[in-house]
Amino acid sequence: MKKVLFNIVKLVFSLIFILLIAGIIGYYYVSSNILNFEDEMPKKGITYNQVNIDGINFIDRNNNGKLDVYEDHRESIENRATDLITRLTLEEKIHLLKGSGIKSALGMSSDGIPGAVGTIVPTPRLGLPEIYLSDGPAGLRIASKRKNQDRTYYCTAFPIGTLLASTWDTSLVESVGNSMGNEALNYGIDVILGPGVNIHRHPLCGRNFEYYSEDPFLSGNIGAAMVNGIESNGVGTSPKHFVVNNQETSRNWNDARVSERALREIYLKGYEIIVKKSQPWTIMTSYNKINGQYAPENKRLVTDILKEEWGFDGVVMTDWYGGQSATAIVNAGNDLIEPGTKNDWNELKESAANGSLPISNINASVKRILKLILKSKKMENYDFENNPDLKKHALVTRKSAAEGMVLLENKKNTLPMKEINNVALIGSTSYEFIAGGTGSGDVEEAYSIALDDALIKNGFEINKIALNEYLKQNSKNLKEKKDDAEIPGAIGVAMSMMNPYTPIKMEYSTKLLDEISATSDIAIVTIGRNSGESSDRVLSDDFLLSEKEKQMIKNTCEVFQSKGKKVIVILNVGGVIETSSWKNQPDAVLLAWQGGQEGGNSVVDILTGKVNPSGKLPMTFPIDINDHKSSLNFPMDGEKLKLNDLIFGFDYDKPENKKIRNKDYTIYEEGIYVGYRHFDKDKIEVSYPFGYGMSYTNFKYSDLKITKQENKINLSFKVQNIGGFKGKEITQVYISKINSKIDRPIKELKGFSKTKLLESDKSSILDIEIPVSDFYYWNEKINSWDIENGEYSIQIGSSSRDIKLQEKIKI
Ligand code: BGC
Repeated sequence: MKKVLFNIVKLVFSLIFILLIAGIIGYYYVSSNILNFEDEMPKKGITYNQVNIDGINFIDRNNNGKLDVYEDHRESIENRATDLITRLTLEEKIHLLKGSGIKSALGMSSDGIPGAVGTIVPTPRLGLPEIYLSDGPAGLRIASKRKNQDRTYYCTAFPIGTLLASTWDTSLVESVGNSMGNEALNYGIDVILGPGVNIHRHPLCGRNFEYYSEDPFLSGNIGAAMVNGIESNGVGTSPKHFVVNNQETSRNWNDARVSERALREIYLKGYEIIVKKSQPWTIMTSYNKINGQYAPENKRLVTDILKEEWGFDGVVMTDWYGGQSATAIVNAGNDLIEPGTKNDWNELKESAANGSLPISNINASVKRILKLILKSKKMENYDFENNPDLKKHALVTRKSAAEGMVLLENKKNTLPMKEINNVALIGSTSYEFIAGGTGSGDVEEAYSIALDDALIKNGFEINKIALNEYLKQNSKNLKEKKDDAEIPGAIGVAMSMMNPYTPIKMEYSTKLLDEISATSDIAIVTIGRNSGESSDRVLSDDFLLSEKEKQMIKNTCEVFQSKGKKVIVILNVGGVIETSSWKNQPDAVLLAWQGGQEGGNSVVDILTGKVNPSGKLPMTFPIDINDHKSSLNFPMDGEKLKLNDLIFGFDYDKPENKKIRNKDYTIYEEGIYVGYRHFDKDKIEVSYPFGYGMSYTNFKYSDLKITKQENKINLSFKVQNIGGFKGKEITQVYISKINSKIDRPIKELKGFSKTKLLESDKSSILDIEIPVSDFYYWNEKINSWDIENGEYSIQIGSSSRDIKLQEKIKI
C-alpha cells in the first residue's frame, strides 16, 4: 500500500515538474519570439533640436545640424521618402518590414498604447517615430484601463458595419468615420484597422456584422466614405480582409476556390471602388488562400491587380500572423508583416543575405512604409491629448444608428407608438441590448444603453412584472456575465472572441403574459443574436429562432392582441435571421441591428417617431437558408477555430485527398450569383428583398430623365413625400441588359441616393451619374472587362423588387 502511495506521489511530483519545465520553456519561447524579440534594436530616440533656416523652424531629426530633404516638410512625401531610403541601413530597412510584436496589444508594454495590436517600428537614429495600429470597424479598440492609473481610456462603440451600410448614406458614414478617426488621433493611434469590407457571401459568416453588404457597389461606396471620414483626421485606415475572406471556419488556411469573373465582379470590386475613391493609407490582406495561394503571398492580387492595375499607393499589411513565409510575403508585394515575430525578422535577414529577397523588393516596400510614417501626425511631433469628446461622439452614434435601422413590418401604423405609458419588455435582450459583435471588432465603451434605460429616460414606465421575471430567470446568467466582463486585456478579448455573449432565451407562460398584459399598454419583444471572430454562425437557435423564442413571440402576440394591445418585435442582431415563419404575427418589426453604445436610445427615437426610419437592407433576407446558392458550399456546422491548430500549427501540407470540403477548401460554385443576383436570376421568393425598408410615410417617384454622354449617363428623377410624416427615402438604380447574350445577373446596383428630410408634399430632384465602365462585365474568354453593346433598362427602385421608374437606353 505504502509503495503504491509512494508511486502516486512520485508521479504527481514528476507531472508537476514536467509542467513547470514546459511552462518555463513555453514562456521563454513566447517571450523571445513573440513579445520581446528585438531588444537589440534601439527603441528610444534622441532629443531633437530645431533648425532655423530662412526664418522657418524644422526638426533636426538626425541631429546633424543640417536640414535634410526628408526633414523638410515643404518637400513632397515622395522626395522625402526617396531621401530617407538612401539613409537607412539594410538592417534598418528590414526592421521596418515587420512590426515589433504583440506586447502592446496584451497591455504589457510600459511605453506603448495598451490594446493597440501592432506597430511600425521606430528608427530613432533618423528620428522616425513608432506608428501604432489598432482595431477596428465599429470604433477604436484599445484597452480602457491601464496599469497603476485611476483614469479610463474608453472609446465610442459606433454601430456595426452592416447597420452603417443600411443607411445607404455616404455623408453620414463619412461623419461617423470622422468621429472614429478623431478618437484614434486623440489616443495616439495612427492607423485604424478597418473598415471591414468583405462581401456577405452567406448569412452565417460569423463576421458579417463587421462587413457591409452582399453587393460590391454598396460595400465599396460605403467603405470609401468611411475611409475618407477617418483619414480626414490625418489617421490611416486598413480596409480588410483582402480578399475573398467570407467564412470564419478554418479561416487561417481555408482555400477559396473562385472563378476570375466572380473575383473581379464581386469580391475585388468593392476594394477597387475604395482604392479609386479614397486611396486608403493601407489595406490588410486576409488569412485565407485564393485558388491555392495565401492572400499575402499572392503577387497577382497584391502587386499586379491592387497596386499596378488600380494604382494603390499605400501599404499592404498582413492580417495578424497571416501568411506562411515572410520572404514570400514581401516578394509578393505585401509590404508589412504584422504583428511580427522573431522568425519573420530572422527569415527576412537571411533571405536578404542569400538574395532570395531582392533589395529592389525591400526598397519598394520600405518606401511605401516610409511614406506612411512621413504622412502621420506623429511625424509632426503631434502631442495627443488622450481626451476625446466622447459626449459629442455619443450623439453621432445615436443619430447614425437610428438612420440605419430598418422597419420591416408596420401593420395599421402601429409605429410610431401612440398613447403608450406602460411598456412590457419581453425577452432578456430588451434589458441587455447588444451593442456590437465580438472579437477584434469589439470596442471597450464606457456604457451601453439598453431598451429599458432608454424608455425610462423618455418618460415611459417599464412593466414591473415583466422586469421581475427577467431578473428571476437571469440571476445566474447575469453573475457569470459580470465575472467574464472582469477578465482584463487580451484574455478577456480571446474569451469573448471564442464565446460571444448572448443573453439567455426566456420562457413565458400564458398565465404570466396575461398578468403582464393586464398592467401594460404594449409589448416589445426583443430577439438578440451575437457572433464574432473565429467561428461562423449556425442554423439552429441562431439563424432560426429557438423553440422558446417562437413560443415567446406567438404567446405574447396571442395574449396582447386578444386584448386589443399591440406587439412590436425588435431584432437586435448582427446578421440575417429567419423571419418568414413568424413575421406576420406581431404588429410591427424593427430590425435594429447592433447600434453601438446608444442603441437603446436610437430604437426609442424610432419607436416614438422622433426619427422616421429610413434604413434599407444591404442584403436579402431569404425564406430558407438553403435558398442561398452558396449554402451548397458553406460550413454550416459553425466549427470553432481550434486553439491547438493555431498554436501548434495546422497541417499545412495536408494532401489534397485528405482535405475537407468547406473547411480546408471552399468551392465558390455560385460564381457571381451572390445575394439578390441569385434570387432574381432563379426567381426565388424571399422574405425581404435587397434594398427593402419601410417608412412612416410614402414616396412618389416621377420625372425620370436620362441623358447620355460619351463616357457616362446622367439620371435625374423626382421623389415626393406624399404621406403625413416627414422622412427620407433611399433610391436605388439598377441596370439590366435587355436580351443579353451572356450569362449575367437580371439586374445590378449601379447607383443610389438618399433624399434630404422631406416634409409632407415636398419633393427632391435626385441626380445620379453612372460611368459607362459600370456597364462592363468580366469576359473570361478574353480575360478582361468587356461591354455588351445594345439596349439596357435603367431601373429606379425603392428596393430591388420594387421598381418605380424605368427607361431603355442604348450603349
Ligand atoms: C483579425 C483582424 C484584426 C487583427 C488585429 C485578426 O485576428 O482578423 O481583423 O485587425 O486580428 O486585431
